[in-house]
Amino acid sequence: MQKEQPPLANGRIGLGMMRIDSLDSSGIRALYSAARGLGITLFDHADVYGREWHDCERRFGSAVKLAASEREEIVLQTKCGIRMDAPGLDFSAEHILRQVEGSLRSLGTEYLDVLMLHRPDTLVEPEEVARAFDELEESGKVRTFGVSNHTGGQIDLLRTCVRQPLIANQVQFGLGHAALVAQGLAANMEGNPQSYDLDNGLLTYSRVHGMTLQVWSPFQSGFFEGSIFDLPGQRPLQSSLSRIAEKYNTSSSAIATAWITRHPARMQVILGTTRADRISESILGSKIVLTRAEWYELYEAAGYIVP
Ligand SMILES: NC(=O)c1ccc[n+]([C@@H]2O[C@H](COP(=O)([O-])OP(=O)(O)OC[C@H]3O[C@@H](n4cnc5c(N)ncnc54)[C@H](OP(=O)(O)O)[C@@H]3O)[C@@H](O)[C@H]2O)c1
Repeated sequence: MQKEQPPLANGRIGLGMMRIDSLDSSGIRALYSAARGLGITLFDHADVYGREWHDCERRFGSAVKLAASEREEIVLQTKCGIRMDAPGLDFSAEHILRQVEGSLRSLGTEYLDVLMLHRPDTLVEPEEVARAFDELEESGKVRTFGVSNHTGGQIDLLRTCVRQPLIANQVQFGLGHAALVAQGLAANMEGNPQSYDLDNGLLTYSRVHGMTLQVWSPFQSGFFEGSIFDLPGQRPLQSSLSRIAEKYNTSSSAIATAWITRHPARMQVILGTTRADRISESILGSKIVLTRAEWYELYEAAGYIVP
């Protein structure tokens, strides 16, 4: 059982930094200050965000310039393991150690609060990962570790050698990509594609093992097809969101956030917006508890079936 969770001062919302290359330095500073003002503490990075290695990390580091006291108040999380300079993934100790050095330098910090392995590398040697994690922990460069886009079995494989708790798994989930819950809801329905197991029962694995799920691209349809609030193919979902938003006197993005946080797996939502007003809407949404009927109505309006 691994119950430790990445610390989040403001409930269940963190802010992803993948899209900050669309902002200039003062825009990044303004977004960061607004987020902090709203109580956000978790800032999610990766060595591959932006146009080259560590681009978004560097933009963040040079725009925000964290003072020591400020640094202690926030959670800086980053990921490595995807290659930008060669095909594929790389969980070798050498690559992990090199990327962490680059992330520390770019972010302008002496330590990472959380380091995640970004996408599973099928050539992984768990002993190599363990060696890198031990070295990073002993040097104080990384405080906690996690994974992203991993199945339960892949996590178990890492755990055969890795000593540190793997505190979170970051995966895609939201009304535009609900595979995490869809398979379980249509289990054993022969011929129905929704019943296909895409992730080895990851949702149940996470709940059984008390492992935090962090949700990426909470408002994207499919794999970066666009936002659920804009896509013409999502009209039934948009009208259900508006109707329920009206009942709670709030916005559709608040309700789309509430749909995620209503799940008893207690997921953390990694927003990708570059707008402070939208962060604020999601924070409000994370405090709304939808009824079961509202939750299932939204799920069906998004195109999924409840048998
Ligand atoms: N682990 C992984 O493999 C992985 C993969 C992808 C992303 N991530 C992480 O997840 C974070 C979030 O991903 P994401 O940026 O795709 O998430 P997202 O919040 O689903 O999408 C953000 C995009 O949707 C737009 N948007 C948000 N609310 C909207 C609304 N109400 N109406 C219209 N457009 C709206 C935003 O535009 P505005 O900026 O104008 O609001 C932005 O372009 C990333 O920053 C990254 O940290 C992780």
